[in-house]
Amino acid sequence: MGLFKNKNMSKENSKKDSMEKIVSLAKRRGFVFQGSEIYGGLANSYDFGPLGVELKNNIKKLWWKTFVQERGDILGLDSTIIMSPKVWEASGHIEGFHDPLVEDKKTHERYRLDHLLEENGVNVSGMSFDDMSAKIKEMSLKSPNGNELTNPKQFNMMFKTSVGPAEDSSDDVYLRPETAQGMFVDFKQILESSRVRVPFGIAQIGKAFRNEITTGNFIFRVREFEQMEIEYFIKEDDWKDQFEKWLYDMKKWVKAMGLDESKVFYHEIAKDDLAHYSKRTIDIEYEFPFGQKELYGLAYRTDFDLKAHQEKSGKDMSFQDPVTGEKYIPHVIEPSWGLDRTFLAVMHSAYDEVEARSGKDDATHEKEIVLRLPKSLAPYKVAILPLSKKEDLTNLAKEIASDLRKEFMVDYDETQSIGKRYRRQDEIGTPYCVTVDFDSLEDKKVTVRDRDTMEQDRINISDLKDYIKDKMSEE
Ligand code: GAP
Repeated sequence: MGLFKNKNMSKENSKKDSMEKIVSLAKRRGFVFQGSEIYGGLANSYDFGPLGVELKNNIKKLWWKTFVQERGDILGLDSTIIMSPKVWEASGHIEGFHDPLVEDKKTHERYRLDHLLEENGVNVSGMSFDDMSAKIKEMSLKSPNGNELTNPKQFNMMFKTSVGPAEDSSDDVYLRPETAQGMFVDFKQILESSRVRVPFGIAQIGKAFRNEITTGNFIFRVREFEQMEIEYFIKEDDWKDQFEKWLYDMKKWVKAMGLDESKVFYHEIAKDDLAHYSKRTIDIEYEFPFGQKELYGLAYRTDFDLKAHQEKSGKDMSFQDPVTGEKYIPHVIEPSWGLDRTFLAVMHSAYDEVEARSGKDDATHEKEIVLRLPKSLAPYKVAILPLSKKEDLTNLAKEIASDLRKEFMVDYDETQSIGKRYRRQDEIGTPYCVTVDFDSLEDKKVTVRDRDTMEQDRINISDLKDYIKDKMSEE
């Protein structure tokens, strides 16, 4: 018994450890840090620093290339964050976008009732708000601090604000809790302005806001986050096939992100737990150090949203096929990706520690961090490292860097030993380090070191750009 307990504890510790390591690397190297830090920070707000914004942008670029540029049947959109409040009446968010909440009577800390029940061994799958409220009473559940809890209530997660100078309720608006609705509301305009035919999709990347009761686990659950979503419009009869196709495409995406596939799970949501708009949903989950949690979602939203907007707005939301003349309201398959969760899963899967390998000049360390990011996602593709600070070498190195910058994000580093500089680049996932040495002045060649294989190639400076381009395209 004791032995098992210890085993579990050490597993738990190493899980916790790996999260702490990622948070610490993210902060130390400027990927992600606390927002408003000089004012003590705003709880659960995070800013993406110079390397973080590169990684984030690279994920977005690859997503857009994969699903918009390379397909031809999906069109882009950038709709507003603040929309008419009628949108949220029609979509059901005002009525039903709630989380069940309880409050510690002494500390006034708030908890999600479903999370609290789960932590106490209750399977909440299929339980309504009333079921959960009854359960918590029956169990006489206390808060994690051991205090009495208030009666449960429903808490709407949309952020409310007002437009214009008068702050009465007629001016109430909401920050969008999902990017999806912009694509439904603009469906007709896109249809008319671009002459597309069903099946086709609309894609959008943008911020979404949710006033989460409990946040935490770094950037996993935050109140301001980014989504990458597609609404794919289809004929009702095709939904099963299209669902399978999207599942396949989402699996391919997981691969492209370099995620450890043994940590990715496809969880069919039980009928009783489906969102109000969905007939089938698969959650794509990732085994984060703090547990197996939702990373992405794939839902068959039927014609729920277009129908609801047609009813509310009085505008015809149907599609008339120009070839067959058939007229109908399309059904929708919705693959939805959270960008911040992708970022976290990518960092977690890419994080590696190896025995010291970057030279004996500073071998005080035992382990070195290598961030094995897919090359297309790495913030810097190349680092230029002159072997000495002598002016003729640094001039040549700077020249090479400025030439490569036309093509790639390039870091230039001439400080400290070469071993330390390799280590700094490995830590941030730079796939190629180029050293410029004294021979380079004579033979016009440089040495390129590969982050993963550690192989070194001596390359003509004039061929360097093409060499790196070729290597990048091998991925
Ligand atoms: N349009 C469908 C929709 O919004 P969702 O499952 O509520 O579905 C989609 O959200 C994705 O957005 C999630 O799979 C997750 O990646 C991300 N997401 C949702 N809430 C989040 C939060 N509070 N913080 C970070 N990401 C979140």
